[in-house]
Amino acid sequence: MRAIDEHTITEAALDQMASTPDPRLKEIMAALTRHLHNFAREVDLTPDEWLEGIKFLTAVGQKCTAYRQEFILLSDTLGLSSLVNALHDRRATEAGTKSSLVGPFYRQDSPVLKLGDTIVTKPTNGLEVCLYGRVFNSAGHGVPNATVQVWQPDETGNYDLQKHDPSEMDLRGTFRTDAEGRFYLRTIAPLGYMIPMDGPVGDMIRAQQRHGYRPAHIHFIIGAPGYREVVTALYLQGDEHIDSDTVFGVTASLVTGVNSKDPSSPIPNLPTIKFDFHLPAAAAYGSGRVGADPSQIVAKVAS
Ligand SMILES: [Fe+2]
Repeated sequence: MRAIDEHTITEAALDQMASTPDPRLKEIMAALTRHLHNFAREVDLTPDEWLEGIKFLTAVGQKCTAYRQEFILLSDTLGLSSLVNALHDRRATEAGTKSSLVGPFYRQDSPVLKLGDTIVTKPTNGLEVCLYGRVFNSAGHGVPNATVQVWQPDETGNYDLQKHDPSEMDLRGTFRTDAEGRFYLRTIAPLGYMIPMDGPVGDMIRAQQRHGYRPAHIHFIIGAPGYREVVTALYLQGDEHIDSDTVFGVTASLVTGVNSKDPSSPIPNLPTIKFDFHLPAAAAYGSGRVGADPSQIVAKVAS
């Protein structure tokens, strides 16, 4: 009979899990268990603190709906999402545009639009801009017919999912690059925003005296057959939180700006936001999306 104490409990738990047939599940659960036990030992976790943790995670789950994903927000604010992105980029066989967060506001099935169309569907006081660039492969050739999904907050820093009727899509669109790999569309310059603070993650951010802001940004998912999907975001220079993103999405190579005089703009007389994307060749590993449409996550849990 094994004596269970604060040291032997880890080995006992791992022994019992050793029967897991799926090798990856076995590896992940064993490592998770070791780290959780080491965490509890390191901080000398008390029963009250353990219960606080259980209450916190319960509240995070209860806050999740088809339009709100508090667990992704938690992962983002802990830096875990950004870390998973970095690990994903390390597996690429060719260099490409760096990954950034999907975040909790992605919607699949955004409106399919033509090049030059606007993604703005509601009256706005935002600065209209032309968002454009090219999608290249590693040989430096434009990738034709690539799918460019774009979504962003408005000039007040809010996404459609945070509005009165979150089922109405705004400031989202799906485009196809032309024969030269070009894309161009009309939108408005986004404003940075405070992450949703009315849930348990907001309580955590306040307890840590963090500001809770993200710098202004525009999200992208870009894909084409034979290429690794690029899941990323562009960040606007000049934003006061560009160096202190609450969810650690900003990296230097993804920072761009609004150009008020751009003679190369495919839509003349508009300020521009320009960025070229680079798609690496496809490799044998899964999606780079550290996030998902909240309605899909809820649907999977319910089914
Ligand atoms: Fe965002």
